[in-house]
Amino acid sequence: MLDIHTHILPGIDDGADSLATSLDLCRTLHAQGIREVVATPHWCSPRFEISSTDIMQAWAKLSEAITGAVPGLRLHLGAEHHLSGLQQASSFVASLRPLGSSRSVLIEFPDDHLPDNAWSCLHAVITAGLRPIIAHPERCRGLRGQHRAIQSFLEQGGRLQFDLGNLLGHHGLMMRWRSRSQFARYRAGAIIASDSHNLKVRRPRWDELPPAWRSAVPTSLSELARN
Ligand SMILES: [Fe+2]
Repeated sequence: MLDIHTHILPGIDDGADSLATSLDLCRTLHAQGIREVVATPHWCSPRFEISSTDIMQAWAKLSEAITGAVPGLRLHLGAEHHLSGLQQASSFVASLRPLGSSRSVLIEFPDDHLPDNAWSCLHAVITAGLRPIIAHPERCRGLRGQHRAIQSFLEQGGRLQFDLGNLLGHHGLMMRWRSRSQFARYRAGAIIASDSHNLKVRRPRWDELPPAWRSAVPTSLSELARN
């Protein structure tokens, strides 16, 4: 299985705070059946000041360490883009960093609202030949009631990424109900990922994945790129 959303790079954002934690996360992911993982540090988020240099240094550190520590786990580099609404669509598209060698890009919205230019930005992403994947749509209040827009987004090739922990109910019954409702409604365009941050409250939960949801988890980056 491929996990397309993790914060496993050491010391970059609110994810792994050290190389040791990163490696513990990688070992856990591998033990739970993950064979490929995309590191998706927050990018363009108002909550973090992260430079490309920071990311590349953390990436180099983890890539080197994982070769000996977890040789069965293949790492890819991506990003979790924050769509704040403050950027023009063209500059937003120019800032995108795809998931590994694929044309997919992971994009999160603010939790409390949907930026006015959200759909036009996503349309610009698609027009540029990329595939936008909305990270944890279940968390965004502004997406509630946007069924027609979401359906149109999916018909244009977009995807929705649900957090496994939310689906399983590890972040409350309301979040479980909301995420399962959306997951069922948009099942054909749904992808499950862990959004792993650490081994405490936001840890990988692949060992709890119900068999019925397995088809919503890509098997590899090359499969994600094909479909
Ligand atoms: Fe994330």
